[in-house]
Amino acid sequence: MLVTREAIDAEIERLGRIPRPANGRRCSVIVHPASRTANSFTPGTQVALSVLLPGERTAPFKTNANLLEICIGGSGRVTVDGSFDTALHDVWTVPSMRGHVHENNGSTPWVRLTYSNGPLLELLGVLFEEEGVAVLERERPHDGLSQEHRRKYAWENAPDIQLTQAGARLRGYEYLTDISVVPNPALHWPWKEVWPHLSHEAGDGKRRIWLLYHPGTERRNGTTGTYFATIGGCPAGTPLYTGAHGHRHTSASINYHISGHGHSVVDGVRVDWKAGDLLLSAPGWSEHAHYHGEEGWRVLTVQDHPLHIAMGSLLWQEKYDGPILALGSEEGQKGYTAPRTQGD
Ligand SMILES: [Fe+2]
Repeated sequence: MLVTREAIDAEIERLGRIPRPANGRRCSVIVHPASRTANSFTPGTQVALSVLLPGERTAPFKTNANLLEICIGGSGRVTVDGSFDTALHDVWTVPSMRGHVHENNGSTPWVRLTYSNGPLLELLGVLFEEEGVAVLERERPHDGLSQEHRRKYAWENAPDIQLTQAGARLRGYEYLTDISVVPNPALHWPWKEVWPHLSHEAGDGKRRIWLLYHPGTERRNGTTGTYFATIGGCPAGTPLYTGAHGHRHTSASINYHISGHGHSVVDGVRVDWKAGDLLLSAPGWSEHAHYHGEEGWRVLTVQDHPLHIAMGSLLWQEKYDGPILALGSEEGQKGYTAPRTQGD
């Protein structure tokens, strides 16, 4: 499914024209006609388009969905775990359950796309959302227990018994309620810092796809706990891909085209795209290949890949007649440096 730049621009214009909503969020959700929740673009992913006019700020908000955002127009400030200023094509995360505020401190409309796992939480019946200044309060209420009691019944001191030689174990309740914490700060990938790492001349040997990696996702290699974001593409003059086949994976893939033009073939159907278009470029397990034009292309790809790794359901077939691999559960696909590109 293709959402053209013209359609996105028209909606940006409309959002900028409506009276300011009470919570400051001029926001539309880009919904797939087959969405199960009437709120999603892929079954697990929402893509929202938000506009803030110069001087506007949103009411503080928090949710148990995790958010990944890209600036597609103007500039603005995100306040979450401190503040950072964003510019065109910057990508950043807003971790779940962190109060946050968006503020346009620039002179033109600030436009961003927000990818969220909210629709999946809706399907599970557990989407949590809260609004108002209280969400910025980080102090937690006291649980009424003494330090000694808290130490005694913590996971470090809970029973943990090996039951069988093969490895089955029994563990106490503390392991369920006192999970070891992996720091998950909001992180920001400024475009001006990413840019020098991209390939700018055909044949310069630089990588054609980079994962925007958040260390908090550990072996799931994500940008948030649910999604990875990659910056892919190639410069003008790069030889065109001529293969007939693509690859496929159970993660669903969404491309936002930053520059260039070309077409994709998804399950045998050709879709033409250009800079500014948003494309559901690969519904889960659909074979897909992308064919760029002479001027090259840059693309932000978002996939629910870490979610699948956590569930053990990430199937990957890099070559149409190659093995179907369960990534993270068995040895993965070696030998490739980009989709359909074998390293030399
Ligand atoms: Fe893919």
